[in-house]
This record gives sequence, C-alpha cells and structure tokens, in this order.
Amino acid sequence: MKVHYNYLPQEFAETSAIFDEWRILIESSDFTLGFYVEEFEKEFAKFAGVKHCVATNNGTDALILALKSIGVGTNDEVITVTNSFYATAGAIVAVGAIPVLVDCDDRFQICPKAIQSAITKKTKAILPVHWGGASPAIETILELASTYNLEIIEDACMGIGGSVGGKHPGSFGRVSAFSMHPLKSLNVMGDGGMVVTNDSDLNDWMRKYRNHGMISRDTIEFWGVNMRLQPLQAIVAKQRLQVLDETISKRNRNAKYLDENLSKLSKYVQLPNRIDTNVETFALYMGLFENRDRLKKFLKENNVEVKIHYPKPLHIQPAAQKSCIMGEKLTNSEYQAERLLTLPVHQYLDIQHMKYVCETIFAFYGYEDG
Ligand SMILES: Cc1ncc(COP(=O)(O)O)c(C=O)c1O
Repeated sequence: MKVHYNYLPQEFAETSAIFDEWRILIESSDFTLGFYVEEFEKEFAKFAGVKHCVATNNGTDALILALKSIGVGTNDEVITVTNSFYATAGAIVAVGAIPVLVDCDDRFQICPKAIQSAITKKTKAILPVHWGGASPAIETILELASTYNLEIIEDACMGIGGSVGGKHPGSFGRVSAFSMHPLKSLNVMGDGGMVVTNDSDLNDWMRKYRNHGMISRDTIEFWGVNMRLQPLQAIVAKQRLQVLDETISKRNRNAKYLDENLSKLSKYVQLPNRIDTNVETFALYMGLFENRDRLKKFLKENNVEVKIHYPKPLHIQPAAQKSCIMGEKLTNSEYQAERLLTLPVHQYLDIQHMKYVCETIFAFYGYEDG
C-alpha cells in the first residue's frame, strides 16, 4: 500500500465544474475583482460567521493587510509564536514591525504565559497562530489583550473550517488572516487568501488598500498596492467551500483513528491533547516520535510519506537573528522540532490507509497490538 502526503492530483482529477465556470468568466472578461470574487467573499464571511471578508492573492498578503489595517508599523513589537510558517514573522517584518517570538505549549500552540512575559511598552499586538489547524487558548489570549490594551490579529491560515467552542478560527480578533495555499483545508489552484473583520471601517480601508487605494478609476485616496484575489481562483475557492465540511470530517475520522491507536505507544509517541469543544482542520496531524529520523526513513521505505513542520523554529532561522526579539525560554519548540512528524490524514485516505500507517509505526517500535 502507498500512503501519499499530497492529495492535489486526486482533488483536481475531476475539473469539469471548474472549467464550466471559468468559461463563463472568460466570456465576461471580468478579470479584476468582480462578480466571482465578491460572491466568494460573501460566502466565506457567512461561513466564518463574520461581517466582512476581503479576498487577497495569498495568506502572506492577508497578514500584511491585516497588520497595516490596524496601524502596526515601524518598531512596533508584535508577539507571535516561534513554531509557525515563515510568513508569520515575514509579514510582521514587512510592515516595519518587530516579531517577538515566544514558545509554544504541549499542544504546539502559542503559550499564554510566554505572551504575558514578553509584553513591553512597545507591544502593539498579539498574533496568535492556529497552528496545524488546532487552536491556541484564544479566550486567555483575548483577556491578556484586553488587560494590556493590545490588538489581536489571528493567523488562522491553517484554520479554515475549524471551530473553537462553536466559533470559527479567525472570528475572535479584530482582524484575521487565512491562506488558500494548495495544502490548506480550503485550497485553490495556486495562491489565495483572505482577511476577515467585523469592523466596517477596517473593511473599507482594506478594500481600498488591496486595490491601489482607488476610489474610482481615476482617483486614488491613498497609496495602496495590488493584493487582489484572481477571479479564476475565486471560482475554485467557491466550489471547494461547498465540500469543506465533508473534507474536515473525513480528516477528523482519520485523525481519530490515529489518536486511538498511536496512544498505545505512549512510551515512544506523544500526541497533543484534543479539546472536546474544538474542531481541528488537521491541516497538519503532528506528534512527537522517539527516534524520529529513523522512523521517518522506515516509513518512507514502507511507502508512507511524512513531513516535518518544521525542523527549525523561527528563532533559529538566520533571518531572525537581526530582525526578531526572542522570548525568554524557547525550549518546548526546540524539543519538539527534534521529534516532530506530520502524518498524512487527508480526505482521500481512509481507515485502511490509517491502519497501514499505524501497523508500520507499531512494527518500527516492535509493538504487538492486541
Ligand atoms: C501559519 C501560516 N501563516 C501564513 C501562511 C502564508 O500563507 P501563503 O502561503 O498563502 O502566503 C501560511 C501558509 O503557507 C501558514 O501556514
């Protein structure tokens, strides 16, 4: 049996519905923002339970747009987590601000205590990440933000379709960013992203900034840039949104099987606690594994593709040395980086695949099941 990590060939094996709508778009020549982008924005805002969605050309730009919209700029400190994708820190640096990188907890999520100890007079915002499609202790982070009068921008790039006590990731902060990169829970055929907010003034400003600051074809209110989502991608996004709940529920079924079976290996494998009131998207199914590198090789030899997200936390990157402030202790993220593996649980895999993954891991550790 082969267990692939990449599901894109299966996801886009049948594309006639996409081509049908692309044909209509091409005949209309409505290639800049327009009907499909607006429709997608409305549908996504409704899906996420927020008032406004501004679609962008990727998640990195969505973060930059969100940060700029609330005035994060030169020398402001923004507290975020060191185990995230590069864009989380890159976007903060792109607006002239300083990422303050703090540690994560055993669930791979930003640690509220570490946030608190990193707050200074220069802190402008907290940027919690819904890492891997699970969510941090968002209520505690909201309380901290309110006590210290800080803004919250959620990096919910991996959280599309999840839930935190019944609310969608990204619906807590004043403004939040999502990505539709091909390996996200809602993905397009290339790049896409969006920002959501309940604040109508921020929404107005972001719509203009995303489109050169234009208020009409010949009038620029302020200088902006081009961060527009392509209508071709809006069509893909709209169609994928229709099957997102089903996608997430299949991933959860697979993840549950792995949780139940890998927990038998508690001597070798550490899994994050799941929170009953949350739904994870399983953009990444991560665990900590003894002898990780040898296990990774063994899995590859046995046709199971796995990944590491990521071997180096952000604070270890050369780019971070001059541009970031490091939190007090970053030991959890370093410990985890040496043991992390991301296993495939995507929607095109079934329980037979999960059984094979578990049997292969059992064989590696010499465990005989039941
Ligand atoms: C946590 C996180 N933040 C930001 C991004 C950036 O998104 P994009 O690749 O769409 O620019 C990603 C995804 O790649 C991500 O996983």
